[in-house]
Amino acid sequence: MYSQLFFSLSLICTIAQALSPAEWRAQSIYQVMTDRFARTDGSTTASCDLSDYCGGTWEGLIKHLDYIQDMGFTAVWISPVVKNLNASTADGSSYHGYWAQDMYAVNTNFGSAADLVKLSSALHNRGMYLMVDVVTNHMGYAGCGDCVDYSVFDPFDKESYYHPFCLIDYNNQTSMELCWEGDNTVSLPDLRVEDSNVQDMFATWIKQLVKNYTIDGLRIDSAAEVSKASLANFESAANIYAVGEVFNNNAEYVCAYQDSLSGVMNYPMYYNITSAFASTSGDIGALEQGVNTMKSTCKDVTLLGSFLENHDNPRFPSLTSDMSLAKNAIGFAMLADGIPIVYQGQEQHFDGGDTPQQREQLWKSGYDTGATLYKHITRLNAIRKVAIKNDDGYLTYNAYPVWTDDHTIVMRKGNNDTQVIGVFNNLGAEGNANFTLLATSSGFDAGMDVTNVLTCDKFTTDGKGDLNVKIKEGKPLVLYSTKQLDGSGIC
Ligand SMILES: *[C@@H]1O[C@H](CO)[C@@H](O)[C@H](O)[C@H]1NC(C)=O
Ligand SMILES: *[C@@H]1O[C@H](CO)[C@@H](O)[C@H](O)[C@H]1NC(C)=O
Ligand SMILES: *[C@@H]1O[C@H](CO)[C@@H](O)[C@H](O)[C@H]1NC(C)=O
Ligand SMILES: *[C@@H]1O[C@H](CO)[C@@H](O)[C@H](O)[C@H]1NC(C)=O
Ligand SMILES: *[C@@H]1O[C@H](CO)[C@@H](O)[C@H](O)[C@H]1NC(C)=O
Ligand SMILES: *[C@@H]1O[C@H](CO)[C@@H](O)[C@H](O)[C@H]1NC(C)=O
Repeated sequence: MYSQLFFSLSLICTIAQALSPAEWRAQSIYQVMTDRFARTDGSTTASCDLSDYCGGTWEGLIKHLDYIQDMGFTAVWISPVVKNLNASTADGSSYHGYWAQDMYAVNTNFGSAADLVKLSSALHNRGMYLMVDVVTNHMGYAGCGDCVDYSVFDPFDKESYYHPFCLIDYNNQTSMELCWEGDNTVSLPDLRVEDSNVQDMFATWIKQLVKNYTIDGLRIDSAAEVSKASLANFESAANIYAVGEVFNNNAEYVCAYQDSLSGVMNYPMYYNITSAFASTSGDIGALEQGVNTMKSTCKDVTLLGSFLENHDNPRFPSLTSDMSLAKNAIGFAMLADGIPIVYQGQEQHFDGGDTPQQREQLWKSGYDTGATLYKHITRLNAIRKVAIKNDDGYLTYNAYPVWTDDHTIVMRKGNNDTQVIGVFNNLGAEGNANFTLLATSSGFDAGMDVTNVLTCDKFTTDGKGDLNVKIKEGKPLVLYSTKQLDGSGIC
């Protein structure tokens, strides 16, 4: 019964086409931490010890896909799906999924293999896509340094597949690639991914995983801790878009990984956006410089993952509770070049800090679709979709800062008449300002009707195409041609 269901569902799923990197550009990704998103019982009151499994499942996620799709997301990134070590350690349990032991079995805390197939089908039936987090750097063992019983692993069940034990020195690239993540409580045996036999085993595995669950994209954990050549081989075996985690603020260092992977997380911009908007004295000039630096350094910024929060960094609201600053930072990240990625809980203004505090159970919000940032994100996804539809050059158009002052940065993305003009500031909820946005900056025509899609306020440019822009209570504006907005259902 089970195998028959599994077989027929896989058959249906294989009909769906995998997405190319170019097709991923048009997506908008919602990042789910599977253990913390939704439980099978739909509870909104279940307690959660943030260092242990809290009961989130793939079935729970399936039941709440409306919550994600109604915000305008087209893809869901989920935690690693494979079987992890089962122990409670001083570093907590494996609820996050990054401590694999058996790569050919699923993590039954999240459900069965059939449940995961169901999730994939449920997404595809909605015209949405599935991105799965994978780890190629290490396995996981509850232990003490190198006292590892390698026979518990599948498929890497011998010591010869691993580097000798040493803990990583993060200031030394060789050490990052050859030594072990983890500590003396949890050992993360470091795979010899530079070896062809290990690469072949990864290729066999990822081909099966992608096929078995009809996966559309991959997020590769710890990408800076494996060899670049192994990343390229892995993505090519998977034959779908992969975005790597290169946790570093240096543009040259991060962009270098785009020679091996289609995408990397835009960590340098994450740092720039955070510091520009986290306070009213943030450095807008550094943000402007950061945008330009990424464009001149990366092979293709439009294939990067653009994010403000994730499960590894303190949430933006842990730095400031100001709602206007949060709206600006989210807007800037979502309308930047690249594929927007929003981490569960951003829409609820969750404010967890360091790990595991930023991994709050989403269900405590009651999945409130009336939340201020839920509505904000919905509008940002909506205008992005309109811009993509109206301008076939929108996604590959490199956004650029057209005007800045100490507190404001105006970004343009898109071709004439359908350009999106984002006015972002760090004045904070008490701040008001106004300035003249010249036609030479915005590209607006004389007497052109434009709408702030975040509020539906309408304006008309003057005889030269200039516009006096008023910033109220520090809120961002996103200006778009009123005529081009017609029929979109926005405003
Ligand atoms: C983990 O171990 C506990 C206790 O040994 C057991 O009850 C539980 O089923 C195990 N969980 C998994 C996912 O194997
Ligand atoms: C960097 O790490 C490697 C591997 O552990 C080690 O052999 C090398 O000596 C380290 N280099 C420096 C400068 O510390
Ligand atoms: C894929 O499915 C096949 C058939 O059920 C199974 O033998 C194989 O182990 C699965 N591979 C992975 C990586 O899940
Ligand atoms: C912002 O980006 C610039 C240019 O890439 C960089 O030099 C600067 O250090 C960044 N600032 C912060 C706070 O990350
Ligand atoms: C525009 O800003 C200036 C200060 O820069 C202020 O004096 C003026 O009252 C503002 N005008 C409006 C219409 O808000
Ligand atoms: C876009 O508009 C500006 C200003 O109106 C004009 O100078 C420019 O040539 C236009 N570009 C294109 C590609 O039409």
